[in-house]
This record gives sequence, structure tokens and C-alpha cells, in this order.
Amino acid sequence: MVDAPILITGGAGFIGSHLADTLLARGHAVRVLDNLSTGKRANLALSNPRLEFIEGDVADAALVARVTAGCKAVVHLAAVASVQASVDDPVATHQSNLIGTLNVCEAMRQNGVKRVLFASSAAVYGQNGEGTAIDEDTPKAPLTPYAVDKLASEQYLDFYRRQHGLEPAVFRFFNIFGPRQDPSSPYSGVISIFTERALAGLPITVFGDGEQTRDFVYIADLVQVLVQALEAEWLEVGPVNLGLNRATSLNQLLAAIGEVLEGLPPVTYVEPRAGDIRHSRANNARLLLRYEFPQPTPLKVGVAKLLGR
Ligand code: NAD
Ligand code: UD1
Repeated sequence: MVDAPILITGGAGFIGSHLADTLLARGHAVRVLDNLSTGKRANLALSNPRLEFIEGDVADAALVARVTAGCKAVVHLAAVASVQASVDDPVATHQSNLIGTLNVCEAMRQNGVKRVLFASSAAVYGQNGEGTAIDEDTPKAPLTPYAVDKLASEQYLDFYRRQHGLEPAVFRFFNIFGPRQDPSSPYSGVISIFTERALAGLPITVFGDGEQTRDFVYIADLVQVLVQALEAEWLEVGPVNLGLNRATSLNQLLAAIGEVLEGLPPVTYVEPRAGDIRHSRANNARLLLRYEFPQPTPLKVGVAKLLGR
């Protein structure tokens, strides 16, 4: 008998496709629901008979209910991941970023599926906790429709936990990077932009003085935590910061890229972006307490892998 699949919404995207690869390698069956708005078929191991791909939208409640039937767990990653897109078109992005979550909750209730992993974001803290290591109890200050929808999604998942026995494992991702992250928009993750431009020898723009810091997590490190959250008997009630408590400035990032490539194209420093957070770093004590997290990938090693070196 074939094992019940794990449903990954947004599974053709950057994070979802890496998780799909790892789950398949661990012997799970995987079902992906993705509307291919930013995800790609090419990210998926479509020739693997344990992988099923359904092209469709999480905003379509009937479809979500159908694809959730018979699954043993859900990983809900489908969202418009661009914060700027949510600022430009809050109504459209809300369909994916909140209605999608509600449809997943309802589909799970109808089908008796319990475990769900959810990709929330450090964006829920807004500017709060800046300059310190942000812990999960730091007051929330969602500043954009993207962050509002992430926080509301967390709260809906908690409602379904209390009311209907869902088992949500909520992670607030900090800055995740690695292969398959789409560099095509100016608002894509900074590492995907810098590495793509450095490889092509194109000039790099830094917004501000480059001394702003981020807590960058290599994709493989994130995936090993998600796998544990899926396979564990126990459930951590409450959100978990997914960061390393490691601050890297953009100047340090550029130095790492320059070392790997033995040189950099011209770098220009311009005005900081309006509303840019200066320092973002996770207090990850809860993560380290609950999950096995042996050796985070050093930034330079992750950057080298991304650059194919
Ligand atoms: P991504 O854009 O590569 O992945 C999102 C996937 O969801 C894509 O494949 C896209 O086609 C799909 N999708 C979007 N709207 C959909 C819809 N309505 N119906 C079905 N599929 C839809 O981005 P990612 O970086 O892999 O992000 C995955 C999740 O992690 C997102 O929820 C994002 O908000 C969250 N997150 C990412 C980061 C990061 O640093 N990458 C940080 C915080 C949170
Ligand atoms: C990231 C997430 C966002 C989340 C936030 C929470 C991405 C794409 N965005 O935003 O979802 O809300 O963490 O903390 O992962 N920069 C440059 N040059 C460029 C591009 C960016 O200097 O070409 C700078 C930005 O101004 C910023 C830094 O790099 O200071 C990081 O930017 P970015 O990768 O977009 O991530 P965040 O803004 O941290």
C-alpha cells in the first residue's frame, strides 16, 4: 500500500521544492499544490512516482479540500512571498496569503488531517526588537499587508488548534537563502540578487551603508527543522523563530561573495530603502530547545554552494 502523502502548498517554489526533495529522499510520498505564480515545474522531481503535482490555487476552497483528502500532513508555504507585492496590491495578495490559509485549515478539519507546518515571517515583529535578538514574545507590529496576513494566519491556525484539534507548527522564518531562490525582482532576497549579479559581472547596488545586518539561514538548515516538525510525535504549541542568532552585515556578505569568486563587480552605495529594518536577528532559544540543530551552515559555505563552487 502506498503511504499517505504529505501535501506541500507552494511546493514548486524555493523552500517548498527543497523540502519536497528531502521528504522524497526520506521515503515519504509528496503532493504539491502550486499555481506556478513564482514556482516552477523545473524545481520538482516530476519523474519520481511518489511525487504528485497539482497546478492550482490555494484560494480555491473546493480544490484545497480535494487535494487535502487522504494526506497525512500539510506544509502550508503557498503565499505571495514578496512584501512589496502586498503593499502594491493588498486585495490580490490577501487571497493567497490569508484566504489560502483559511482554506487549508477548513480542508484539514473536513478531512481529519491534523499536523500542519506554517511559514510565518520575522515581518510580524516589524521594527520591534531591532538591535536585540528578537524573541517570540516581542510585541508584534505588522507593518505591511504581507505581515498582517502572516500574523492573522497564525491566529487562525491557533483557533483551529483550540476548536478542532489541528496540530499547527508555526515557524517565523528570518532571511532564508539558497539555490532556486528567484532573483528576478528588485525585492527578491538580497543574497539571490547579489550572487546572480556577481556571477554575471553586473554592478551591485547596496541600499544604505551596507552595515545593516540580517540573520541569514541556509535552506538545508531550515529543511532539517521542518522535517523534524513533520515527523515528531510531539507538538510545540506556539510559534518558533527560525533564525540562527547570527548577524551578518551586507558588507560582510559582499566580502564572502568576493572571496568565493575571487573578485566582485563594482558596488554602489545609494540611499537606504524607506522603512528598511536596520538590524534583524533571531533569539532562537526555543528552536534550539525543541529541535536538533547540530551545525548551522557557515554563511560562506552556503554562499559557495549557491555560487556552485
Ligand atoms: P516562493 O515564491 O519561491 O514560493 C512560494 C510558492 O507559492 C511559489 O511556488 C508560488 O508559485 C506558490 N504560490 C503563491 N501563491 C499561490 C497560490 N495562491 N496558490 C498556490 N500556490 C501559490 O517563496 P519562498 O521563499 O519559497 O517562500 C515560501 C514561504 O515562506 C512563503 O509563505 C513565504 O512567505 C515564507 N517566507 C519566506 C522567507 C524567505 O526568506 N524566503 C522568509 C519568511 C517567510
Ligand atoms: C526579509 C524578507 C521579508 C521579511 C523580512 C523580515 C525576503 C525577500 N524578504 O526582508 O519577507 O518581511 O525579511 O525581517 O526574504 N538590499 C540591498 N540591495 C539589493 C537588495 C536588498 O542593499 O539589491 C538590502 C535591503 O535594503 C535590506 C537588505 O538588503 O537592507 C535585506 O533585504 P531583503 O533580502 O529584501 O530582505 P529583508 O528586507 O530583510
